[in-house]
Amino acid sequence: MTSFAERLIRWQKRHGRHDLPWQNTRDPYRVWLSEIMLQQTQVVTVIPYYQRFLARFPDFDALAAAPADDVMAHWSGLGYYARARNLHACAQAVVAGHGGGFPHDPATIATLPGIGRSTANAIAVFCFGARAPILDGNVKRLLSRHAGIEGWPGASAVESQSWRHAESLLPQAEVATYIQAQMDLGATICTRSKPKCGLCPVAADCVARRDSRTDELPTAKPRRKLPERETTMLVLIESGRVLLLPRPPTGIWGGLLSLPEVAAGRDAEKEAAHLGCRIVSQRLLAAVSHSFTHFRLTITPLLCEVRSADIAAEPGVRWLAAADLAQAALPAPIRKLLAVLLDQPIV
Ligand code: ADE
Repeated sequence: MTSFAERLIRWQKRHGRHDLPWQNTRDPYRVWLSEIMLQQTQVVTVIPYYQRFLARFPDFDALAAAPADDVMAHWSGLGYYARARNLHACAQAVVAGHGGGFPHDPATIATLPGIGRSTANAIAVFCFGARAPILDGNVKRLLSRHAGIEGWPGASAVESQSWRHAESLLPQAEVATYIQAQMDLGATICTRSKPKCGLCPVAADCVARRDSRTDELPTAKPRRKLPERETTMLVLIESGRVLLLPRPPTGIWGGLLSLPEVAAGRDAEKEAAHLGCRIVSQRLLAAVSHSFTHFRLTITPLLCEVRSADIAAEPGVRWLAAADLAQAALPAPIRKLLAVLLDQPIV
């Protein structure tokens, strides 16, 4: 089998992208601008921005001299605005610090604002014929799948391993074609979901493909531990019916029906009285937990048999029989909790 790089280079010549607006030039200004724009944004989105930006700021001098709000205005809509601020600072650094000339050496390029190792290497390859690997998000995905590199690519040990691997795969010649191949293959074939392995030139020795693990590699970022919140909820039962209350329109479960919570500083009796109920007997039930995007909620249900007093309760109070719960707009954890409690399916 020919090498990884040889297969990519052949593929690039036949199937890669050759006519993007920032290709077929070695002008560092154009290549740098495109690489910054492409850092977190797809090619189709970047193209019109790139063209407008270039028309307004044709070179480092023009960009460096421009007012910041003019630069921001031309970036507006691309997102990640730190890129635009760094872009402006970088143009000024290039004009001031390097006499208007862009440095050639990847390590020096990487000292400029907004330029990391991968972007610096890409610019040095495309403009100055350097022999250096890149490791952007697309390439991390491609390499972690092909070589079966385990672990979240953002972890520093995994990242160092990926850099070493990327170095080891570099061809001796046609480096620019090879680097462009990695970008194009990552963007069009080795996509995050539903990769087109049938069209991939390196599928034959791809570890993820061999092991049917393209959906597991690269390893996802470990989930950060969510903050914990706890609450007690009342399950007020009278004659087989349970009391439900509409949630406030904002906040969790806005607009759905739920169990009443025991607010901080109140006890169950007071809360029940507020809802027009007198507690006859009560029993704590096993807690249930539910993860929201920003926190994890542990609910301790307090099962109370009640007599509903004949006093005005809070507006919106609903008494539902077990049979009516299936139709009610309940949050999933409350539905589950009640299903277990009332010992019947209400889904
Ligand atoms: N993504 C990052 N750099 C790119 C480039 N030069 N061409 C296409 N996609 C890219």
